[in-house]
Amino acid sequence: MKSVLFVASEGLPFIKSGGLADVVGSLPEILNNKGNDVRVVLPLYLKIAKNNRDGFERIATYPIDMGIIHTIATVYKTVSGNVTYYFIEHQGYFERDGLYGYADDGERFAFYQKAVLEMLPHVDFWPDIMHCHDWHTGMIGALCKIHYGYDERYTRIKHVYTIHNLAFQGNYSKDILGSCFGLSDEFYYNGYMRFHDGVSFLKTGLMTCDKITTVSDTYSKEILTRAYGENMEGVLESRKGDLVGIVNGINVFEWNTKTDPLLAKNFDKRNPFSGKLENKRALQQELGLDQDDDVLMIGLVSRLTWQKGINLILERIEEIMEMRVQFVILGTGEADIEAGLRYMADRNRNKMSYIQDYNEALAHRIYASCDLFLMPSLFEPCGIGQLIAMHYGSLPLVRETGGLKDTVQPYNEYTKEGTGFSFTNFSSQELINTLYYAAHVFYDDKKSWRMLVKNALSVDVSWELSADRYIEVYNSL
Ligand code: GLC
Repeated sequence: MKSVLFVASEGLPFIKSGGLADVVGSLPEILNNKGNDVRVVLPLYLKIAKNNRDGFERIATYPIDMGIIHTIATVYKTVSGNVTYYFIEHQGYFERDGLYGYADDGERFAFYQKAVLEMLPHVDFWPDIMHCHDWHTGMIGALCKIHYGYDERYTRIKHVYTIHNLAFQGNYSKDILGSCFGLSDEFYYNGYMRFHDGVSFLKTGLMTCDKITTVSDTYSKEILTRAYGENMEGVLESRKGDLVGIVNGINVFEWNTKTDPLLAKNFDKRNPFSGKLENKRALQQELGLDQDDDVLMIGLVSRLTWQKGINLILERIEEIMEMRVQFVILGTGEADIEAGLRYMADRNRNKMSYIQDYNEALAHRIYASCDLFLMPSLFEPCGIGQLIAMHYGSLPLVRETGGLKDTVQPYNEYTKEGTGFSFTNFSSQELINTLYYAAHVFYDDKKSWRMLVKNALSVDVSWELSADRYIEVYNSL
């Protein structure tokens, strides 16, 4: 039984911008079911403040000394399910419309990390392990050792650092050491925090934690190469012995086709087809698409960024629109991708629908309704969409990278195995060929398609096994 504090920049059920929030919002519950005391700390963003602050318990207000900046933090607490959540309040830093992308992000998350460490004496919980996620929390391990070197309560804490996306690194000019952390340039010159001509929160996390995990086995190997290493491959190579890949799961209590209240029709895994059809009909109606039971419905739910390979789809969208398909896309992101999708959807109203929104309820209906689910990512540390898609009887069509490669078994028409379709190289030609092939199976070999759907539905996408692997990591420290 371990006491673990998850330190992250987002987490459901309170706030989400990407898959990190799904993990932070579902793994602690399972770890607690297995007898641990895992708690979560998050920044109190404007959205959380508006929706939830009144219901939180106010614990303490305390000073934060960040170097040249002196300010205060307030910590709140609430319990959701079997997980205790703490929230760090600072109106100036966090009560803004968005989560990230501000000029002072370095300062904001410097504050957050310091405020998390200063929170510990005020809450009735002292973790054995701090489990930090992504660049926003990379400095925690170093700060424990440097700022609190005299305090055994801090120095005996062990540190697990999980990479959800190596592309985001928190790299700043070295001045941030003095201004926001009260640290001397020594830590730049000795190499622990230095990354090129500045300092990197991510690198610091990688250098100072006890164990590094990332969210799939394949990604844990890819990031040691130049192609995927985002210039951190050397740092990672030096810590290879402490790096493990543990694939994400999903919350199968929430994602349950039998009980999901957001679906037009609930259905059982053993007999999914009529239920899926009713969902498809309802979605066609909701989105103003042609009512057509037999058409191949393709879904895509994603942050619309370069990482997700949406440009491969845009390159071939005219050809896709000539196929007998319906295409449903939900998500927001980069302006040019959004504009491209809007343009095509306007021209193909009866077969393509682009919903430029973040809408969890509609996402559930898309997963349940579509036949095929696209994830042609350039890189994908794990990917959650393909797990949900399989669990809802939609076959993922993915590029073989990261967690997509580990979780989707491509259809093999000779052995009749598979849970989806995949292609190897990041090329729109390979994507479209795979799409033609999937459409061929869908229209010309219904029996195999149905078998694939059943295979997909029987994949274990729960946290069960992966949670045990995290516990092994905790116990190894
Ligand atoms: C990031 C990655 C995604 C992963 C998620 C949760 O969003 O891009 O692949 O599934 O983190 O670990």
